[in-house]
Amino acid sequence: MITRVTVFLAAATLAAAAAAVELTGAQRSAIEDRIKPVGEICLQGDSSCGGAAVAAASGPRSGEDVYNGACMACHTTGAGGAPVLGDVAAWADRIAKGTAALHDAGVNGVPGTGMIAKGGCMNCSDDEIYAAVDYMVENSQ
Ligand code: HEC
Repeated sequence: MITRVTVFLAAATLAAAAAAVELTGAQRSAIEDRIKPVGEICLQGDSSCGGAAVAAASGPRSGEDVYNGACMACHTTGAGGAPVLGDVAAWADRIAKGTAALHDAGVNGVPGTGMIAKGGCMNCSDDEIYAAVDYMVENSQ
């Protein structure tokens, strides 16, 4: 009698355990969907990433990314006399100075003007600033 009850309990326990596993399996995709936003990996250039996440990504940012993050505040509006992106006339004389001069202005700024060193992006590498300058030049001629 005792043996039979034990066997029955063991069988019932196994069945319950199996049911628990099956339930987990059925809900797995729903759970994965729920936790996905937290664990989602954000790759540079991925449009689903916010700007901050892109900035935190390792590896150099593209010139366009740097421009959008650090330069457009002035270079889209012309604030303080900044040459506006796409304004061919405003850029012609500057482009004529050559790439090296413009790269230097991007990294070190233009003394006495609103063009501060690196456009204020102090966590930008020199190469990232060069890329941003190149992006501005390419789109302004
Ligand atoms: C706070 C405003 C401001 C920000 C932000 C800014 N600029 Fe400028 N930028 C200026 C102004 C003003 C000038 C014009 C300076 C002058 O009178 O020659 C300028 C000029 C330039 C020039 C032309 C320099 C020359 O020698 O003709 C380059 C290149 C440039 N900026 C690159 C950048 C880049 C790259 C960024 C972002 C990383 C940036 N700027 C962010 C205000 C800004």
